[in-house]
Amino acid sequence: MIDHPAFARLGFGVTGPHASLIGSVSQTRDLVHRAVDLGVTLFDTGPAYGAGRAEKRLGQALRGIRRDKVFVCTKAGIHAGGHRDFSAGAVEMSLKESLARLQTDHVDLLLLHGPAEEELTDKLIRHLEAFKARGMIRHLGICGRGAELEVATRIPAMDAIMAPLNPELTAGELERLERCKKAGLSLIGIEVMKGSAKSARLPLSPSSAWYFARHIKQSLLGRNAAPSGRSPQKSLSWALDHPLSDSVVSLTTRLKHLDANARQAGLEGSPSSP
Ligand SMILES: NC(=O)c1ccc[n+]([C@@H]2O[C@H](COP(=O)([O-])OP(=O)(O)OC[C@H]3O[C@@H](n4cnc5c(N)ncnc54)[C@H](OP(=O)(O)O)[C@@H]3O)[C@@H](O)[C@H]2O)c1
Repeated sequence: MIDHPAFARLGFGVTGPHASLIGSVSQTRDLVHRAVDLGVTLFDTGPAYGAGRAEKRLGQALRGIRRDKVFVCTKAGIHAGGHRDFSAGAVEMSLKESLARLQTDHVDLLLLHGPAEEELTDKLIRHLEAFKARGMIRHLGICGRGAELEVATRIPAMDAIMAPLNPELTAGELERLERCKKAGLSLIGIEVMKGSAKSARLPLSPSSAWYFARHIKQSLLGRNAAPSGRSPQKSLSWALDHPLSDSVVSLTTRLKHLDANARQAGLEGSPSSP
């Protein structure tokens, strides 16, 4: 279970457009600073996003912000080059590189990025426990969408899981999340906007090109979510108010969406009217 003052109800994902050349350091910095002012103090990123660019941008954006005011989460196992390696040595190297890019001496949460059960070796867990004991990792977890999440319940060093949290989940998937929570793990929800109306993406911005390219790629792979008819606000509320949810991480490239999301989460620093 995560107990940290900056482990906020709403988190900000520094991935996607924030990891691409279409995005910019200044855009990410402006959003990160606004997020902190609003009380959105959990930041999620990972080495696999933009081959380290996302972590680097988050590190640059957090310069000048007191380290104990934010909760920084990154991942390991899918590395900066996109290759997968959960060996203890590779995860150690990945963590050290992440710390350098994030310009910090510790991460508040390290998530293993979708490991298979057999990849969670005793050697890897011992290694991670040692990093925890040295304070380089404050909390440990698994990010995934299937049976791998439940493996975390059997590893005492684990504190959290990150998993999709939206109304499209099956009863079986929700029961899995419930078992993880009962075992004492914190749940960070993702993909909360899945299938939501996208009309709010207007006016077009440079990031629209990134979203458009992703849409085409997902269409070709047959992976685009069917429209749910829910508005983004309804989707976010559903996840924030879900009894299993401890935090919800959402991605945005727009200050007005960040404001609206913080307001939806009832955060103290959020503006009271649109
Ligand atoms: N999806 C995954 O596979 C995955 C895996 C691991 C971790 N994560 C974490 O989860 C984070 C969120 O990613 P996600 O895939 O789950 O996306 P999401 O947060 O469910 O959806 C992001 C989309 O919602 C839009 N949006 C956000 N707030 C809005 C608002 N108020 N009104 C209208 N549109 C709004 C954003 O567009 P605008 O930019 O226009 O606001 C963006 O297109 C990632 O950044 C990452 O930290 C995701």
